[in-house]
Formats: sequence, structure tokens, C-alpha cells
Amino acid sequence: MRSTSPSRRSAAPSPVSSPASEHPRSTRTVTRTVTSVVDGRPVPGDRTIASLNPADLDDVVGEVSLVPGRIFTAAAVVARNAQKAWADVPAPVRGRAIAHIGRVVEENAESLARLVTREIGKPYAEALGEVREIVDTCDFFLGEGRRLYGQTVPSEMPDKQLFTFRNPVGTVAVITAGNFPVAVPSWYIVPALLTGNTIVWKPAEYSAVVSNAFHDLFVRGGGLPDGVFNLVHADGAETYAGLQESLELGYIDKVGFTGSSEVGREIGALTGRHLQTACLELGGKNPLVVAPSADLDLAVEGALFSGFGTAGQRCTSLGTVIVHESLHDEFVRRYTAAVDSAAVGDPSQDVLMGPLLDAKFAERYEKFLGWVQPQHTVLGRTGRITEGNPRPGFVGDPTKGLFYHPVVVDGVRPGDELFDQETFGPIVGITSYSTLDEAIDLANAPGYGLSSSIYTTNPADAFAYRRGISAGMVSINNSTSGAEAHLPFGGNGKSGNGSRQSGMWVLDQFTRWQSVNWDYSGRLQKAQMDVADLDADLAFRLDDDQ
Ligand code: UN1
Repeated sequence: MRSTSPSRRSAAPSPVSSPASEHPRSTRTVTRTVTSVVDGRPVPGDRTIASLNPADLDDVVGEVSLVPGRIFTAAAVVARNAQKAWADVPAPVRGRAIAHIGRVVEENAESLARLVTREIGKPYAEALGEVREIVDTCDFFLGEGRRLYGQTVPSEMPDKQLFTFRNPVGTVAVITAGNFPVAVPSWYIVPALLTGNTIVWKPAEYSAVVSNAFHDLFVRGGGLPDGVFNLVHADGAETYAGLQESLELGYIDKVGFTGSSEVGREIGALTGRHLQTACLELGGKNPLVVAPSADLDLAVEGALFSGFGTAGQRCTSLGTVIVHESLHDEFVRRYTAAVDSAAVGDPSQDVLMGPLLDAKFAERYEKFLGWVQPQHTVLGRTGRITEGNPRPGFVGDPTKGLFYHPVVVDGVRPGDELFDQETFGPIVGITSYSTLDEAIDLANAPGYGLSSSIYTTNPADAFAYRRGISAGMVSINNSTSGAEAHLPFGGNGKSGNGSRQSGMWVLDQFTRWQSVNWDYSGRLQKAQMDVADLDADLAFRLDDDQ
């Protein structure tokens, strides 16, 4: 985009290429301060917080300068002013920008993944997979620049043509969580840019350093003109204030939000007051049903990864295993053995589970542990892993970070908080059932509806489950997590408002259909009135005797 961007200024130095990200250990040395970037310029805030490595709390990944809500509004104005020129860039050229972003992310994949591991404690192999998801998303949408199809539609009158066009929505606010600090933002930002929208992005404070790296890769890699993609670091209250003001002043046309159901409800209400529908990707209490015909070892493997991969901190993480009563005891035996022998510890090593994302998440997770009741059976140790509460085989030094035991709780039932509520973190409930209808009722009972899974070798069970489950995403003989980046992603009930991300389906979030009719007959032809009809003989009947 160099030709359309004569005034491009350089933003803050790239954390991706800084030597500190190559050498993750730096005890209490602040290696960088990250700021908001609005209109291509760094914007320092009025207070600073530290983003710590959750696997080594002595390692300050960066200082994050937080801005007040009015800077969010200012960024929305900048994005709004940049939108028309961006929409005027031909879609195939915008597609080339997306292609370049994908290639630059691919070239920087390992640096970015290392930074993700360092800032949020995601095991390195998973972090690399997450970066891959950005590339997959770019690969999907780079060609969309040459499609963005509209239709030609026949008119009911002669010398008249009908068409449909996709128009960009305008200026988009994207507010994302830090458990997927780069993949999930790309699900919004890539298609929004491709379809001609401009962006104000507010990432999580605890993944801010990664966010600036992501922003640099997009702006520099894509050659995006100033003002097209703005980054704002602010806390929740200031973001809400800025968003509210921006909506009231008409600067924001669409909001994409990934986070808790509670905040999603607020965003939905706020945008609804402005006659907008937000794209909401919220929590989940994702069930995994083990039917009598299941391959039990496969089910155990799926429940292990979906329960404790990412330390149970995906919106698609497993909430409750609903196992047929005939298999309950054997499943519990094999599952607890698998959990006991799983590698937990330093996320830069080959582990299933690293630390919790950040102190706030650890605190909240401890509250969830308090939901265990006397009627439940806790299998193994719970709580923080310490010298006094050790985990055999722990990889590294547990006292350095926010490491917790993976917890399995048997005997959860509807009405228990552990069964009904999302418990973001490494805790999985188990319950049992006798008929498939009962399993489906149990699976739907918490009222979320994001992801779900059934392990069965019986096609009739698989299809009955698919039909009955309220979730937006269904896995058959696969984990609840790990959706591919080009299928519709989203939930129902407390998991969202029916919006879908990814693949061609997300285009409806970031574009609005415009219908065009063009009458070249030279007279006013009135729809529904000046329409020809053929003389049909509706009284005609076949003669049975012939
Ligand atoms: C999330 O946790 O917000 O399907 C997204 C999955 C990942 C994305 C999770 N690809 O588990």
C-alpha cells in the first residue's frame, strides 16, 4: 500500500525482532514498554502496568501503558476518517495486503510463538499452532479479495437488471481476550480489513506485548496506511466508556468481542441500543459424551487434550464428561491415569499444560475450586503446585509461576455450580447417564452452546446427538477444542448471539448487502404492478379416459 500511503510513519520498534524475545529470561529487567498506536503513532497512556511471564513471575515481559477511554474515542475518529480511502482500494489489492501479512507472519512464526509462550504461558507447540491459525486465516481470505461476490438477479420486468453488492460495515471495534492473543484477533481483523473496514483493536492487558508484535506484523507486513488498523491498550472500564462514547457519536459501526458471557451481555445491550448486532464469541461449558460403543482410549485422549490443553483456558475447553453408566468406572480409571501421567510445567518444554494465563485468572480459578461439594469425588491433588503440594514429574520449578494441579471431579450434577457454570482453567467434571436422550439433556442443561463432542462408533447415535445438541460446533470422535479456521465458529445460548466467525460465513459480519436495481427501459415500470403474466389455464385437467 505504499502508493496510497505517502504519510506512513514508523510505529514503536518491533518486539518480535527484539533480542529480548529471543532470550526469554530477564529477571526484573523491563525490556520494553508497549503503547497504543493510533494513526501510525505511539500514544503513551496515563498509567502503566507490568505484563509478567506466568511461568516465571520474575520475568517482566513488558510495561504496558494504558490510555483513558477518550483515546479509544480518538482512535475511532481516526479509523473512521481512514475508512473511505481504504474501502476505495480495490478488493484484490487489499487481498494482496492480506497475502503479504500471511507471509510475514509465517516468516516470524517462531519469534511470535516464543513471545506468546513467554507472555501467556501457552505451551510452545500450541503457540506455534496458534500462529499457524493466523496464516490459515490469511490464506483463506487473500483469495476473497478477488471474489467478494455479489449476484446478478433477474428482474420481473424487461429492460431492468438487479444486482447485489457487499459493502463494508465501516469502522469496527475489536475487543479480544488473551488466551488466544493472536489467532482469535486475526479471525476478526483479517476479514474486516479485506472487506474494506478500518479497525480499533483493544486486546487483553495481560497479552499486550504480543499484541504490539501482532500489530507490527500486520501494519508493516501488509503495508497498511496509517489509521486503518489502530491499537488501543486500556482497561475494561475505560474501554467500555470509550466504546459507549464512540457509539453515541456514531464513530463505530460494528463491535467484535471475545470474552466472558457476562461482558458479552453488556456489549450486546450497548450495541443493541445503537441498532447494531455485535459479533460475540463468549464462554462455554462444553460437554463430551462417551457412548457405550466408544473407543475408550480415544475418548480418554480427547478428554485429556480438551480438558487440560491450554490449561483448560480455551472457550472450547472441555467442561463435563458425560459417560455412559456401563463405562463410568473404567473411564474414570483410565482418565485419572492419563491425567496423572500428563506432562505439566515449563511451557517452553514439551508439556501438555503450562501455567494459568495471569494472576487474575489464577485467583478466579481458585474460586472455582471452592465449588467442590461433599457429594463430589475429587480425583488427585488440587490447588497450586508448590513444594508442599507437589506434582510428581513436574517439568521445571513450580514455585516460579502460576502452576496448578489438573483436577478431575466425579459426580457433578445439574444444580451444582461445577456442572452449571463455565470454569475457565484446568478442572473437568464427570457425570454419568443411561439413555442418549438423557445425555443430550445433560449436555444442554448449563445453557451454553459453543462446542461439544461425542465419542461413539454408532452413526445413529452420532446423528441423534448432532440433532439434539444446542452447540454451534459438534465433534464426533474428536476433542471439544481445536476447530479448523475455515468452518463457522460460534455459539448459541450463553455462548453468543448466533454470530459466526471464520470462513465465508464471517463475511456477513463485516459487510452489508446492498441491492441495486437498474431500469433502462426509459419509463417508470412499477414493481408488482406493471408485471406481465402469461395466460395460464388453471382449469386444465388430464382426461383419465385417454
Ligand atoms: C477461544 O478459546 O477463544 O477451536 C478460541 C479452538 C481454537 C480456538 C479457541 N482453534 O479450540
